[in-house]
Amino acid sequence: MPEAARHTADATTAEESLAIQEEQAKLDSAGATAIAMQNTLLTPRFYTTDFDELDAISVEGVRDEWDPLIAEMVADPNKGHFRKTADWDHVDWDNMEPGLKKEFIDFLISSCTAEFSGCVLYKEMKRRGSNKEVTQLFQLMARDEARHAGFINDALREAGVAVNLGFLTQKKKYTYFRPKFIYYATYLSEKIGYARYITIFRHLEQHPEHRFHPIFKWFEEWCNDEFRHGEAFALLMKTDPKLTSGHNVWWIKFFLTAVYATMYVRDHQRPAFHEALGVDPDWYAHEVFTKTSAITTQIFPITLDIEHPRWQRNLERLHKANVDIAAAKTRGGLSGWLGNLWGSARAARAFAALYTIPAKRHDRPAEVRLQPAY
Ligand SMILES: [Fe+2]
Ligand SMILES: [Fe+2]
Repeated sequence: MPEAARHTADATTAEESLAIQEEQAKLDSAGATAIAMQNTLLTPRFYTTDFDELDAISVEGVRDEWDPLIAEMVADPNKGHFRKTADWDHVDWDNMEPGLKKEFIDFLISSCTAEFSGCVLYKEMKRRGSNKEVTQLFQLMARDEARHAGFINDALREAGVAVNLGFLTQKKKYTYFRPKFIYYATYLSEKIGYARYITIFRHLEQHPEHRFHPIFKWFEEWCNDEFRHGEAFALLMKTDPKLTSGHNVWWIKFFLTAVYATMYVRDHQRPAFHEALGVDPDWYAHEVFTKTSAITTQIFPITLDIEHPRWQRNLERLHKANVDIAAAKTRGGLSGWLGNLWGSARAARAFAALYTIPAKRHDRPAEVRLQPAY
């Protein structure tokens, strides 16, 4: 029997990775876990679904594209990658500007929760399923996400905080999504995750003076994992053409709009973080949307028209409404209640204005598979 891994980077299953993180949990801080426990429209959630329906998928129709993808994941190119090495520069947490420190820790906690959310969903699918192809895929993806979450927890621990993943698994609320919504939401979050990480990585290659934390050096291999996960969901969707045609195109448009808008609003809550990276959040959002849209043409029949004059204007309205809602909630009382109501109405109007921008239709390629190209 092989010796058990001591670090999440070497773990070959999600279970092993989580056992290592469980060991470290005695150091975990209640504050970070409380943030990870939050369930709002903007915070990462945990999902559950109809696992039997997922289990019934047949990949025979996409076999030619499926097998090479699984072989790539089984080869495990990133085994051992997600650990601190000599490249991990010392981080001076004590002297980090307080505004930046707060936003950056918030960013790490939210990223860790999102990675772990993927891990929990994929691990559960692997456990409940009996379909050989599907359970193998989900086991491999759970392995990757557990490592990602473990590595972010390593970074957080240096700042004296960490997210208690065992506690989250048991106590965080699970949101039910039908399998098709899991496909749209998860496919998009994997692909936008790739686009986000690679955009920051390439920017910092050009401007290393803005790399204020070593974790960004790991983003290139990291985003290749996310890219592969997205490829798997694209192939799962291809097994059933109904998922990406007819009335489901409206659902696709809804998820595209919701995922893009959420990213925009969330990122604009972290001005100090983006300033430290030397990144204008409007430029960054546009860059990430452009890359994500180009990738999603592999399977979705539409892309959002992000050059439309209503697009940027209503993203800004949504962001402002959100800032006002947060202020109203802090204020409380009748004025807070009214402020919340008014802010929510403006947010709903801005979202409707975004959703009703005519989408761009296009033909899809016969072969789904793509390689990371950015
Ligand atoms: Fe991940
Ligand atoms: Fe992923």
